[in-house]
Amino acid sequence: MNKPWGRFYGIGVGPGDPELMTLKAIQILHRVPVICYPQAVAGDRSMALAIVDRAIPLEGKVLVAFPFTMSSANSGVSWQKALNKVLTYLQEGKDCAFITEGDPFTYSTFIYVYEYMRHHYPHVPVEVVPGVSSVMASAARAGVPLAVGKERVALLPALYHVTEISHLLDHWDTIVLLKVNRVLADLAPELARKGLVEKAVLVRRATLPEEQISWGHEALRNETADYFSLLIVRR
Ligand SMILES: C[S@@+](CC[C@H](N)C(=O)[O-])C[C@H]1O[C@@H](n2cnc3c(N)ncnc32)[C@H](O)[C@@H]1O
Repeated sequence: MNKPWGRFYGIGVGPGDPELMTLKAIQILHRVPVICYPQAVAGDRSMALAIVDRAIPLEGKVLVAFPFTMSSANSGVSWQKALNKVLTYLQEGKDCAFITEGDPFTYSTFIYVYEYMRHHYPHVPVEVVPGVSSVMASAARAGVPLAVGKERVALLPALYHVTEISHLLDHWDTIVLLKVNRVLADLAPELARKGLVEKAVLVRRATLPEEQISWGHEALRNETADYFSLLIVRR
């Protein structure tokens, strides 16, 4: 009889502080022999791997990098080779965990791998372990509740147009803009027109030692904002 396939986990490892990892994430990562992590092709060291490295010993683990480029993230072109390697381990009955920064189902590259696996390898058991998203962590660090009662929250990535933001600012109580660093300057006039500059807070690297929180004009002019920054505007 064929050996049963290993389980493929998608594990959220939280926004940065390893103490924000769940007990379940830690327990699974201690146990699995193979850990996969997303690696931006032109980027820094994987943030997810840096978080896990501070929480559990990585010696003896097989580490598999999944390279992602913006252009091929969805198609699998860049990470297919890595996935083939992982499929070999899974077929041998070994459990593998794909770690993702924040939550795995919130704007994560893991979603591309998850959907590919579900479609092409439906017999492989997959389990997703939620994590503390940078959205929740940033709100907590900035002291800005996201929503109460009937309030509405919009979450969006930076691939938006300023006119779209204008509409959202009118109809939503809180908006959270991820991947915002490159468009901060474009947002400033729109927020000023609506009298909302002072309501904007930029959180960079939430829960990490280098965390920065800035408000209003200082937030919108922030030159140290990097990829791991998001903006919350609560009316
Ligand atoms: C591809 S999305 C991943 C989101 C992640 N899955 C989550 O649940 O937080 C990357 C964006 O999340 C935001 N982000 C991730 N980590 C962050 C942190 N520690 N502090 C502030 N923003 C963060 C930034 O806006 C970044 O551009």
